[in-house]
Amino acid sequence: MAKIICDDEMVELPDNSSAMPYAEQLGVYFGCQDGNCGVCDVEIVAGAENLNSLTDKEKDFNLLKNHRLLCQCKIKKGEIKIKL
Ligand code: FES
Repeated sequence: MAKIICDDEMVELPDNSSAMPYAEQLGVYFGCQDGNCGVCDVEIVAGAENLNSLTDKEKDFNLLKNHRLLCQCKIKKGEIKIKL
């Protein structure tokens, strides 16, 4: 099982799952759900190596260092820590 941690909260999800439905439970907002609006931009505080590579849509956004669009993220395994 993989984990997403935010502040004092944590959700578990199967390995290789999309972060989106689980991150929503931690208070992450999602808009377009397709990498176009930027609403789901969060800082990855730890565990970035456990995520899929940046998608082309994320590259188009010029995200800040250590930021990802969570609607574009799959967690391969392990845990990530995010900051809203
Ligand atoms: S929800 Fe729109 S970019 Fe992620």
